[in-house]
Amino acid sequence: MLSCYSSSVAMEILSRSLSETIESVALVHPTFDNIADLLRGNGLKLVPLAEDPLHGDDLDVSLLKSVGCVFLTTPNNPTGKVVSRERLTRLAEQCAEHGVILALDTSFRGFDTRAHYDHYEVLNASGVRWVVIEDTGKLWPTLDLKVGMLVHSENLALPVEKIYSDILLGVSPLILAMVRRFSEDAAAGGLEDLHRFIAANRAMVRAELAGLPGVTVPDPDSRASVERVAIDDLTGTQVWAKLREHNVYALPCRPFHWANPSEGDHTLRLALARSTDPLAQSVRALRHVLKQR
Ligand SMILES: Cc1ncc(COP(=O)(O)O)c(C=O)c1O
Repeated sequence: MLSCYSSSVAMEILSRSLSETIESVALVHPTFDNIADLLRGNGLKLVPLAEDPLHGDDLDVSLLKSVGCVFLTTPNNPTGKVVSRERLTRLAEQCAEHGVILALDTSFRGFDTRAHYDHYEVLNASGVRWVVIEDTGKLWPTLDLKVGMLVHSENLALPVEKIYSDILLGVSPLILAMVRRFSEDAAAGGLEDLHRFIAANRAMVRAELAGLPGVTVPDPDSRASVERVAIDDLTGTQVWAKLREHNVYALPCRPFHWANPSEGDHTLRLALARSTDPLAQSVRALRHVLKQR
């Protein structure tokens, strides 16, 4: 396990390592855009892996033969979808069978108890070459003090240690001590508090936006600290521009659809890990903007 300044640094180390031995990566679509950026920035070719089929059937054998790595974000940002134990077991078996590396970004895992099974047990049992990027920065985003962890199987056979030591020596002990205290607090009930807090903010957002024609939430089951809002007749970028007039900043979803940005045209993503009062004011501004259509 290699502790990094952030999960993006862990991702950069993984991307550089992958580019030394493979050419193509199958990456879940949509997902957080800097994952695609860092893989592409290191010369890797990306193949989109549509999210819904990923949760159902086996991966296509021709796809597995054409890539060196399958990369999944679970729970995913922005959809909140979680790869279940059963699905991970099968995906790992398939990747092992075809000699494909299985990489996971689990930065949002803390928010969703459905993702609290032992991923390492499943991955190790399969014999697959695996990498997991863990993150404390989404759970405890305090002043950007965070740790991204690059965890890998003994059989990975990529130069991650060498590239890690090219970039850093280690994370500040001050940050590690803080993360340790946050973890102890989480274990003593803080995590459940956080889940209740996010669920209450999500319920508030949904209640404020309820009844607006053509406005829906595409991820009804999500427990991640983000919520997508779909608007039929305005683009996310148009809503973003109108919201700025109210000093409210929300994220248009185009970049998450890294292979086909127009698929994200009509969605906007709100961050839920915010103090409830300012979030409620922001959502009221959003309601106002959407009512004026
Ligand atoms: C799934 C996922 N992975 C990685 C990152 C990158 O995190 P950081 O900016 O802390 O490096 C993000 C940021 O939002 C993310 O959503």
